Amino acid sequence: MLGAPGAGKGTQAKMLAVKYSIPHISTGDIFRANIKNGTELGKKAKAFMDQGLLVPDELTCDLVVDRIAQEDCKNGYILDGFPRTIPQAEALDAALKIMGTAIDYAINVDVPDENIVNRMGGRRACVGCGATYHIVYNTPKTADICDACGEKLILRDDDQPETVQKRLTVYHDQTQPLIDYYEKAGVLRTVDGTVDMEDVFAAIVKILGE
Ligand code: AP5
Ligand code: MG
Repeated sequence: MLGAPGAGKGTQAKMLAVKYSIPHISTGDIFRANIKNGTELGKKAKAFMDQGLLVPDELTCDLVVDRIAQEDCKNGYILDGFPRTIPQAEALDAALKIMGTAIDYAINVDVPDENIVNRMGGRRACVGCGATYHIVYNTPKTADICDACGEKLILRDDDQPETVQKRLTVYHDQTQPLIDYYEKAGVLRTVDGTVDMEDVFAAIVKILGE
């Protein structure tokens, strides 16, 4: 899943993982779990994430390559938020080549910057299971409580407006070039991410197949 911060990658990836019974692998979620558990990786990642910067490739690539080599990925998986630099995409391609596979699709969820800041300010994330809500577009049954696990919902540290702006700049500089990269590889498919979540989902399923 490619797309700007707040484009809805995580929202769609979670729904796709359920539909196709394959793992949803979000590097952002992995880093946040490490931060919560106070690991060495979490401490290193937090310093970058809180500033809206990318975590260095050397802390990111091996982690994903190890994850996709696991047994539960043998029928496929959804990568959310990885790769997000050209070196990450090249490292992924090289690792997949060794494994005898390749990426099937790069789904670009297209949302203009104007819509993003509004979405992020309204996002609430579960401290327990990482589920994502929105105070207007996707409300939990009880305010500030996760429907799935009953834990508290919070505004992510990196969803403060100044940090969102920085993340958007970083996205345009470092991640947007991947759109060309995957276009050239013939696997890019772009969907309109500004419509309702269910309609974005339907557009992606149309591409991936029932
Ligand atoms: P990460 O967690 O990946 O954040 P991100 O890319 O900035 O994207 P978000 O998770 O903020 O947005 P999303 O597209 O998943 O949108 P969501 O579905 O939540 O990364 C965080 C940080 O970790 C990075 O800044 C970086 O530091 C580090 N990192 C992670 N991966 C890395 C990597 N590979 N390399 C280096 N560093 C890395 O939706 C947003 C909101 O909108 C929600 O409230 C949702 O309910 C709502 N919404 C969703 N769809 C719709 C819709 N169609 N209509 C209305 N509202 C909608
Ligand atoms: Mg996400």
